[in-house]
Amino acid sequence: AVERTLSIIKPDAVAKNVIGQIISRFEDAGLSVVGARMLQLTREQAEGFYAVHKERPFFGELVDFMISGPVFVQVLEGEDAIAKNRDLMGATNPKEADPGTIRADFAESIDANAVHGSDSAENARTEIDFFFKSDELCSR
Ligand code: CMP
Repeated sequence: AVERTLSIIKPDAVAKNVIGQIISRFEDAGLSVVGARMLQLTREQAEGFYAVHKERPFFGELVDFMISGPVFVQVLEGEDAIAKNRDLMGATNPKEADPGTIRADFAESIDANAVHGSDSAENARTEIDFFFKSDELCSR
């Protein structure tokens, strides 16, 4: 089915100037950008977005990293977009990511891992709504 998923290009990849290269991976795989913007997350926004991880030991470092520079948030649309995006990203830890995946090619560590992507249809809806109003998304 055609789905939408939220993708974040994290501060490490933005700083490396590879936003375009990462978007090309999505487009080459048949996903389309239906909404996007650049922003500097506040601590409150980062804590809210990652609220499910609040009790995890890495939460503080995760939030610190996500506010260390601007991020690029986008909504990707296409057939099986949620799973396809996760395949393109590779494993959360870049050291375990398959060759040719975004994290294998652009990421340095489990914190600075270049991209975030929604992991389920339910989370995709919540995460898209966190950043975008419906009139900011345009299907083709
Ligand atoms: P992301 O997909 O953005 O979701 C939560 C993030 O927490 C994850 O990517 C990693 O960058 C970061 N993180 C740091 N340590 C861990 C860990 N041990 N397990 C999972 N995620 C971690």
